[in-house]
Amino acid sequence: MCPDSDVPALRGIEPVLFPQSSARARHAPEARFVRNAWYVAMAACDLVKGKLAHRTIMNEPIAFYRKEDGGIAAITDRCPHRSVPLSMGTLLSGDRVQCIYHGLEFGPDGRCLKNPHGNNKIFTGLHLSSYPAVEKHALIWIWMGQKAADPATIPDYACLVDRPPSHVTRVGYLHVKAHYLLLVDNLLDLSHTSYTHAGVLGNADTATADPLIVQNGDVVTATRDSPDAETPGILLMMAPRGFFDRGDQWQSISWFPAGNLRLEFGASRVGEPKAKGTGYTAVHFLTPETERTTHYHYAAARWNVLTDDKRNQELRDLIYKMRTFAFSQQDVPVIEAQQASIDQAGGMVAPNLLSIDAGPTRYEKVLNRLLAEEN
Ligand code: FES
Ligand SMILES: [Fe+2]
Repeated sequence: MCPDSDVPALRGIEPVLFPQSSARARHAPEARFVRNAWYVAMAACDLVKGKLAHRTIMNEPIAFYRKEDGGIAAITDRCPHRSVPLSMGTLLSGDRVQCIYHGLEFGPDGRCLKNPHGNNKIFTGLHLSSYPAVEKHALIWIWMGQKAADPATIPDYACLVDRPPSHVTRVGYLHVKAHYLLLVDNLLDLSHTSYTHAGVLGNADTATADPLIVQNGDVVTATRDSPDAETPGILLMMAPRGFFDRGDQWQSISWFPAGNLRLEFGASRVGEPKAKGTGYTAVHFLTPETERTTHYHYAAARWNVLTDDKRNQELRDLIYKMRTFAFSQQDVPVIEAQQASIDQAGGMVAPNLLSIDAGPTRYEKVLNRLLAEEN
């Protein structure tokens, strides 16, 4: 456990994201992709046995499919003959992918296994790349880097599979027209819930809570406590009527490099222990598609459920709908407009930091070190 926590923790820390002084940073789109990390490609239920699925990740087209032994294959989704996406093709027995255009066949390691034309020769240029990919916690994960991929380093998202199904929402997906780090900034500074999500996820009572920042290895956690605060709508509906119109509320969000977050969100009756309250573990996965687009997956799993089973299934779907509304109708328009504003300025204008920026500032330091190590 890293002992250094600092509140408000801004002294001596310089803004480091897209520095204004660098002409290059102002005019070139910054990738800032950490490759040696696990990213969520899709929900496991979206990868159907016997079918090919496409995702572009870090500008690379990738075809995913389930192998006959139950493993996951991820290979370049661009045929080396004439660039047709292999995900348009057919999955044959023996884990082979056949191109829809002229029938070249490839294995799960990307190697070309059959050229049905001419002398049938298979030359080096016909081989493709493959990527380590696994299924874990009801998600499909991919590793884009050169270092050895260890599935044991996938962050703990067991909450998606170890709680009763009626307590866990389905995995939602949004395609966001913004750099993935703008979404990390948004999530690691949850003061925005008081404004962007007023009444739904936060309110004026929670606006003044400054974050406590703790770094544990490369994991950064920002915690905000709001004692005796008005309970926001999403928590109100998760408790029996009259349980807590006001409560001691908290948000504690952790960032796992480079695009994965886990939030503990809840409230208890004023003065009562947290464990007697209720709330949910919220998971957020931000996977860079390009320098200007992001795959955003999310879900939530309730803890200390205080409502009866008849109501829980209905609540699960309501929680999903409210969070989808909050992200798609409240966060995403703001973040996409922020991206457009940054692009209009020719690059990120160095922010004038506030106390609420302690979380984003801390993770950027870790991110910059990881990027420097890779380069
Ligand atoms: S484009 Fe795939 S075989 Fe021709
Ligand atoms: Fe938000």
